[in-house]
Amino acid sequence: MSEDFRERLRRLKEASLAGGGAERIARQHQAGKLTARERLDLLLDAASFDEVDQLVTHRCTDFGMDRQRIPGDGVVTGFGRIEGRPVAVFAQDFTVFGGSLSEAHAEKICKIMDLALKFGIPVIGLNDSGGARIQEGVVSLGGYADIFLRNTLCSGVIPQISAILGPCAGGAVYSPAITDFIFMAKGSSYMFVTGPEVIRTVTHEEVTMERLGGATTHAQISGVAHFACEDDVDTLARIRRLVSFLPLNNAADPPSRPADDPPDRESEELDRLVPADPNRPYDIKELIRAVADGGDFFEVHELYARNIVVGFVRMAGRPVGVVANQPAHLAGVLDINASDKGARFVRFCDAFNIPLLILEDVPGFMPGVEQEHGGIIRHGAKLLYALAEATVPKVTVITRKAYGGAYCVMGSKHIRTDFNFAYPTAEIAVMGSQGAVNILYRREIESAADPEAKRAELIRQYNDAFANPLSAAHRGFVDAIIEPRHTRRRVVQALALAANKRDWMPAKKHGNIPL
Ligand code: HXC
Repeated sequence: MSEDFRERLRRLKEASLAGGGAERIARQHQAGKLTARERLDLLLDAASFDEVDQLVTHRCTDFGMDRQRIPGDGVVTGFGRIEGRPVAVFAQDFTVFGGSLSEAHAEKICKIMDLALKFGIPVIGLNDSGGARIQEGVVSLGGYADIFLRNTLCSGVIPQISAILGPCAGGAVYSPAITDFIFMAKGSSYMFVTGPEVIRTVTHEEVTMERLGGATTHAQISGVAHFACEDDVDTLARIRRLVSFLPLNNAADPPSRPADDPPDRESEELDRLVPADPNRPYDIKELIRAVADGGDFFEVHELYARNIVVGFVRMAGRPVGVVANQPAHLAGVLDINASDKGARFVRFCDAFNIPLLILEDVPGFMPGVEQEHGGIIRHGAKLLYALAEATVPKVTVITRKAYGGAYCVMGSKHIRTDFNFAYPTAEIAVMGSQGAVNILYRREIESAADPEAKRAELIRQYNDAFANPLSAAHRGFVDAIIEPRHTRRRVVQALALAANKRDWMPAKKHGNIPL
């Protein structure tokens, strides 16, 4: 190799590393954001990043673009490791043409996605982009569609994770939207289909970027984002933690690690967790932490639909997905948003061989005109469908209420759950005592000398008969009534027995989950 060529190559690589130049990098830092390369340094194990396509440039000649070519073209792509396991990555560089997506930029992303699919490794995208490269027109739009197709083809085959670390607007939002998990950084990222300006013109609403599509908005109100992180550093650390629970692909096992927490550890405090008064709340996360290895719970979608809790734990070293009604919020009722949240998480776990632990304390589906008109039937059906179709090991623990349709939905024996346990405090019935007595005995109560005394007596009788797990246990709908302190041991044993479970769906192109 001639010296001239060596020098030319050195300069090209240097230009790529310099991105949009010192001034734009300083502006990026002033905005509280890291550069694409700084982000990859934090995301990946030290010295593990192998870049590809560092020298790719755009091919546009319009608008003087032929005089502005920066090697890499606004996106850094390649492969690296997280806790020693391989991942494919792309990181958009906002300092180069605002991270906007050109034909070449899209081709770079598509290339690593195609390879990730073939290699069976996760794809992590760090998004920070002004959207379609305006100078390239429809060619850029085509590039987006090429990515959307790959997102769809990769779905359920390799985990796909998106971080939004800057603008993500217009159709560009639909790539992250198809991926499995979206992380957003508070104060520096936003996602929307149309921005505040367009909204002002069309609907005359006044809204800020942050309120319209910031991290907290999407994590709490729309549910688009699964995580609202403090900043870039927090986002990247949390992605590393998520990846530690996930298999590389749908044909691989999730990564297990040696656990020093004894599998038969008892949790005495659980015996006191469920209050004697069935209407008093308690925090289901206390139960989750008590049964998890080392009390470690990685919660997903923490701020959205808090009446259901989802996330990952390890039990005896193996990742487990937890889906739990939360009595501390709206009494743990299932509404539209909780059903969507639960269903999406269950489908992710099922697609990626992660066993499910379902913790049930649910008074039923949320009543109300708004819920009915919003389609609680359709949305509730998603959770039912997702849990019924799941073939991964499934264990349900009923801690208290399991009423009505919600009993069937939340991992009942009838939808092929492997092990169903109930606490002695479980109440399994068609409906609560108050409603049942009013329907069954209205005439008797009305004609009684003391209607309230009669009602109280009937409620007591109903509770004796139904507000416990015995009828279900007599029929084998629950396999065992267990002491709360033994929950961890029973669940670990159940999951160990089911570890090599084989179950099937009938051959089909795909099901038709009620969307
Ligand atoms: C080309 C772009 C660009 C774009 C930004 N830049 N967006 N170049 N195409 N889409 C360039 C700017 O010219 C500028 O270049 C640099 O990036 C930084 O942009 P600033 O405006 O200085 O930054 P900031 O003030 O932080 O504002 C960021 C922004 C704004 C809010 C993203 O740039 C913006 O509104 N951009 C246009 C967004 C947009 O409308 N995109 C198309 C959306 S539709 P210099 O050289 O000065 O540093 C879309 C459709 C996708 O994306 C469809 C998929 C199906």
